Amino acid sequence: MPTIALLSSVADMRHLHQAFQEEFPEARLRMGDDLGALCEIDAAVCWRPPPGLLARMPNLALIQSAAAGIDHLTSDPTLPDVPVFRIIDPAMAFGMASYVCWAVVHRQRAMADYLAHAQAHVWKPRRLEPPQQHGVGIAGLGTLGLACAQALMALGYRVRGWSRTPRSAPAGLQAFHGDAQRDQFLSGCDTLVCLLPLTPETMGILSRDLFERLPRGAHLVNVGRGAHLVEADLLSALDDGLLRAATLDTFVEEPLPPAHPFWHDPRITVTPHIATATSPVVIARQTRLNLERLRQGNAQAAAVDLKRGY
Ligand code: NAP
Ligand code: GLV
Repeated sequence: MPTIALLSSVADMRHLHQAFQEEFPEARLRMGDDLGALCEIDAAVCWRPPPGLLARMPNLALIQSAAAGIDHLTSDPTLPDVPVFRIIDPAMAFGMASYVCWAVVHRQRAMADYLAHAQAHVWKPRRLEPPQQHGVGIAGLGTLGLACAQALMALGYRVRGWSRTPRSAPAGLQAFHGDAQRDQFLSGCDTLVCLLPLTPETMGILSRDLFERLPRGAHLVNVGRGAHLVEADLLSALDDGLLRAATLDTFVEEPLPPAHPFWHDPRITVTPHIATATSPVVIARQTRLNLERLRQGNAQAAAVDLKRGY
């Protein structure tokens, strides 16, 4: 009967309680301020856990990220040497694909203008720019990036993707990889979608140096992590016309502070880290499955490669 701690410094983890009771009834749950004896905890399910806490659990055997990303774990220098798992969920990929398609279509078809016109009862159709003439690049061709690429191709966009290592890409997707092919990839991105994990290599990657390699007037969509973006570089790139617009779902500081300039800039669309999410049931099921894999000694293939960082 494993003892599982549900840990977060920012979210109320009680929303997972019912799903764990249904999907993993034999688990003993600990959460909130009263975690009991830390030596009794076998596994931790985490979203931005308090730094240093996991290191104080001497018998911890498994860390389950309650998210696709694990940067909220690897940012803790005291992270114990325990297998880490992340959520891989097709429903989450569909959620991301719908957000990214919305962001691309919204700007490419100037929907914000039509919504403003409708408010003013103005009838002002524009010539349609065919999607085949608009290049969308997905930086990060993983579980989420591939689903976005496929959905955008189904809408007729010209799609390309960039990964760290060579990947077999679905028909119609132009694939690039590694630093050597980065600039070639960027040169065809009228919209650039960031779906990279946050690692030392990708932190601050959305910088002026990168914006200068995009076609002039490109649209940036950041659904990765806030720290991928150098915020001051975005504002100056918009001012200089290097970029035309940005759609941002993630931020260095969340919630985005009320006085932050991004809120007030009509060129920037802000959403509150909602591009996609998994469900409590999936988190409970994957925690159970991963503990089972660990018990059977075959967890290695499913665990995150912490040397790679994602
Ligand atoms: P994933 O399956 O691990 O895919 C990551 C992709 O990024 C892979 O294609 C990988 O290349 C590529 N990559 C990693 N480092 C790179 C580098 N230095 N240069 C070029 N490519 C690099 O991750 P995922 O499940 O798709 O999730 C991606 C990220 O989305 C998460 O880490 C999280 O931060 C973010 N996310 C955001 C939301 C939201 O609501 N906004 C929700 C979920 C997730 P290889 O294929 O060569 O390994
Ligand atoms: C959310 O941002 C996630 O990483 O799942």
